[in-house]
Amino acid sequence: MCGIVGYVGKRNSQRILIEGLKKLEYRGYDSAGLAVYTGSGLAVKKSQGRLAILESKLEQEPLEGTIGIGHTRWATHGKPSDVNSHPHTDNSMKFSVVHNGIIENYMTLKEELTAKGHHFVSETDTEVISHLIADLYEGDIVTAVQKAVKKMTGAFALGVLTEYEPEKLVAVRLASPLIIGVGDGENFIGSDIPAILEYTRNVYILNDGEMAVLTRDGVDLRTIEGNFISRETFYVDWDLMTAEKAGFDHFMLKEIHEQPKAYRDTMGSRIDASGERVVLNEVKLTPEQIWDIHNIHIVACGTAYHAGLVGKSVIEQLARIPVEADVASEYRYRSPIITKHTLVIVVSQSGETADTLAALREAKRCGARVIAITNVVGSSVAREADDVIVTWAGPEIAVASTKAYTSQLIAFYLLGLHLAQTLGTQDAAVIRETIEGLKKLPEQVEEILNHADDIKQYAEQIASHKDLFFIGRGLDYAVALEGSLKLKEISYIHSEAYAAGELKHGTLALIEDGIPVIALATQEQLLEKTVSNIKEVKARGAHVLGIALEGNHELGKAVDLVFEIPRTVPLLTPALSVVPLQLLAYYASLALGHDVDKPRNLAKSVTVE
Ligand code: F6R
Repeated sequence: MCGIVGYVGKRNSQRILIEGLKKLEYRGYDSAGLAVYTGSGLAVKKSQGRLAILESKLEQEPLEGTIGIGHTRWATHGKPSDVNSHPHTDNSMKFSVVHNGIIENYMTLKEELTAKGHHFVSETDTEVISHLIADLYEGDIVTAVQKAVKKMTGAFALGVLTEYEPEKLVAVRLASPLIIGVGDGENFIGSDIPAILEYTRNVYILNDGEMAVLTRDGVDLRTIEGNFISRETFYVDWDLMTAEKAGFDHFMLKEIHEQPKAYRDTMGSRIDASGERVVLNEVKLTPEQIWDIHNIHIVACGTAYHAGLVGKSVIEQLARIPVEADVASEYRYRSPIITKHTLVIVVSQSGETADTLAALREAKRCGARVIAITNVVGSSVAREADDVIVTWAGPEIAVASTKAYTSQLIAFYLLGLHLAQTLGTQDAAVIRETIEGLKKLPEQVEEILNHADDIKQYAEQIASHKDLFFIGRGLDYAVALEGSLKLKEISYIHSEAYAAGELKHGTLALIEDGIPVIALATQEQLLEKTVSNIKEVKARGAHVLGIALEGNHELGKAVDLVFEIPRTVPLLTPALSVVPLQLLAYYASLALGHDVDKPRNLAKSVTVE
């Protein structure tokens, strides 16, 4: 994800572009930049880091001009750095491009252009676009962009400027969002409506395969092939806050709903076309090195640690390697036994959590190889690990982690399969069946989200309670821990997650009349045992919500209410069963009137020990 903006009109473009980018920072914030036509040529200012850094640079040396493009980046190809920031230009600085998306064939194009004498300075796929357009330019920017687009495969939304035709701004959309704002004597482009809402409410929403040519006086819409399109503008009547959250009331709810996309993006090209193998090129361990792994330590904090608990079962079951999962703040001080045969996997959404980073350094100091699972390319954890599996969840704004957690689960499934393929610990049929199950998850999450209202009603019932319990066995216990953390952190209701079989060793004393208990029972091989534990709490007056697989009538008889999730391979159930628990936490917090996205006492990135 990245955000792009563009302006052509009579006003100074710098302020408009910066204000637009501020509204798009949720789409990425590791670097930002502007390109403006100043009257004598294109001028570019860009910088790694938050937009505020670019803003202070521009205060020292402003860019003056009435046409420009801007970008806020979420790194994909190439780490966050000044040189990798957008806009990118060709060598002559005559063409400038901002891009959101991925150009899949950029390496081939880069080689072709290099052979023709183009010289590249960044690691990005985007830089190729500016060179390609320059190479194809024969006096008409629209034709050059059309020709360039035909040569590119992948997903993109582009904004293009050239010094040769400084009155025109060209925009293209193919599988990445792009809107055009229509003003009076000025026009705009943006990745999303909030970027332009301060200036106009009349927009065109580009469809895939469409482009727009903007001048101060008008907007032409065309197909990429060049056929003109006639379309009415759409009038935006939402307020700015609603628009930023794409119509959702909170970032957390938006991020819960973004999970199907996050699953698809994280799987992406990591499953080969035959659907029979995982291809995890970013893990550079050779088969010999994988054979040499004696044990694995998974280290993380909070929600990422809970993903690690699922990861432990996944790797042990698929690859049959012993795994320990540890909270990072404990790991580094317990003198863990790490040898050169130990593989350490650190998990961190932000990649900046101080305890996780310290654990990573300790593991490396002891000679372990470290794989990072992180959502932020170029983060400290990503830079210091030996191998990095990036989760493509996109920026997560709500403090309570949702889509980052589930993308971490997907990363563990892919890694578990990759290890199993190499070690031959599973039959091809098991690998195939698990991959098929993975591919169905996004749709199955959508099905669960369609029943969010059932969870909402239940959340409103439990909101008045002071205490609550989550129980489950095996993978269900790992998910129960995450459900309990989510509820605590945003609703402030006290809750405990217990391994269902452990209740009778003390906790059962706390069960009294009317207390809500959420029982996860998706592991059917353990169902009888879990049902016995449910009976234990029901006998003491608990009111039980069961989370069960579709059509599981046995559980239905044992509990007061059931929420069903679609059937999948047993190992994959956490990627589904956590979703109702995320919704439960969200709606309970909402019912209690709390600040869902910014719970008290908590921060998104914990960079202190
Ligand atoms: C809870 C939550 C935290 C984080 C933890 C680690 O919803 O988000 O528990 O999981 O602070 O953060 P990262 O993953 O950035 O290392």
